[in-house]
Amino acid sequence: MKISVIGTGYVGLVTGTCLAETGNEVICVDIDEQKVQKMRDGEVPIYEPHLDVLFERNIKANRLRFTTSLKEGLDHGDIIFLALPTPEDEDGSADLSYVLGVSDEIGKIISEYKVIVDKSTVPVGTAEKVHSAIALNAKCDFDVVSNPEFLREGFAVDDFLKPERIVVGSSSDRATELIKKLYKPFVRSGNPIIIMDEKSAELTKYAANSFLATKITFMNEIANYCEKVGADVDMVRRGMGTDSRIGKRFLFPGIGYGGSCFPKDVKALHKSGKDDNYDFKILESVIEVNQSQKVVLIPKIVDYFSGDLKGKTFAIWGLAFKPETDDIREAPALNIIDSLLSKGASIKAFDPEAMDNVARKYGDKITFSKSMYEVLDKADALIICTEWSIFRTPDFDRIKNDLTNDVIFDGRNLYDLTDIEKEEITYFSIGRKDIKTIK
Ligand code: UDX
Repeated sequence: MKISVIGTGYVGLVTGTCLAETGNEVICVDIDEQKVQKMRDGEVPIYEPHLDVLFERNIKANRLRFTTSLKEGLDHGDIIFLALPTPEDEDGSADLSYVLGVSDEIGKIISEYKVIVDKSTVPVGTAEKVHSAIALNAKCDFDVVSNPEFLREGFAVDDFLKPERIVVGSSSDRATELIKKLYKPFVRSGNPIIIMDEKSAELTKYAANSFLATKITFMNEIANYCEKVGADVDMVRRGMGTDSRIGKRFLFPGIGYGGSCFPKDVKALHKSGKDDNYDFKILESVIEVNQSQKVVLIPKIVDYFSGDLKGKTFAIWGLAFKPETDDIREAPALNIIDSLLSKGASIKAFDPEAMDNVARKYGDKITFSKSMYEVLDKADALIICTEWSIFRTPDFDRIKNDLTNDVIFDGRNLYDLTDIEKEEITYFSIGRKDIKTIK
């Protein structure tokens, strides 16, 4: 099939590349000329495991092409994916100006039947708005379909190629059949393509992400309470998660959720509710609890250093909002860094992928190290913000040698307490007892 993808951000790029992989002819459109040129030369503009291999293969096979011309893209595709940004407005709602701006252009350009598929995360009712914007000028038939993505950063290629489900909001049989045909190769395992109305599809995305954010936040509150009463959240998590109604996943407490989706989507659903006279009390709490969870380690750090962090140096392991990505949007590490800097401390950081992004944001306010051990040199303490695999089995002797104080503040509960006790390190984590080693 002939496919066009408008917008080559994270979602657009993964969508375009994976659709080319199943034999479709894909053109990706972006207004950024430099980016388009780089992609034509085979350069993947984001870090996403496995994407580079597919990208190169499909460009070579001429199934994946790039252009800055919206007209070229619209002439090519029978199905047009909109993968445009919907950034957070000042009031928390999703800014639809990109989506509606392009929809307006589509109406002026298309001259034969097209299915316009909205992949961006958009508030309920956007498909209708997109339809109206196109209809204003369109001289041919077209349909608008809502098809939210459920891609996790770091696993996006796998999630796209082997989705647990595909959600399609469509009220046109013609469009539904085309979309089903396009996705058939991805659901051979029997996973469902769930067809529903456009509004329900739009809400499904927000509901799914907000539910997961709520699940994590609930566990974070249980962890905080565990600390108060001397329970161990690891045990509570295992005890709960084995109930299949609850499930084991997304029960890991830590320093809060971040990233490009959860924070934005929870706020947008909360704001949509308000606009429609519905007060999502639970979401308001999730937003508030997550904000304080991001800095839950700070009082422990301040306490350990008897209230004064001036002149102290902290080594940070992990800056990205989660492992396997260089994305630092809404990353808890940044809240921790801001708080420590404001208290007069210095920061040295190491992350396998995200250091360039953080350097762009902080300039020379913090320093970076090439390795996870180099960063420890003469630091007063180690703070772990992201659970990269490389941090899971460290050489504790090197940690003890290099740190001025043998103390770790672990925001991701990477180590078993019994192992830490053997190492004679002072260790603070989330929802578990503190290990205090007196030397
Ligand atoms: C998420 C959704 O999973 C995906 O379906 C959606 O389309 C986009 O948003 P992503 O933001 O890439 O994907 O990351 P995800 O792996 O879901 O993690 C989100 C955040 O939750 C991270 O900050 C992570 O550290 C945190 N998290 C996750 C926890 O704190 N505990 C957990 O148990 C799981």
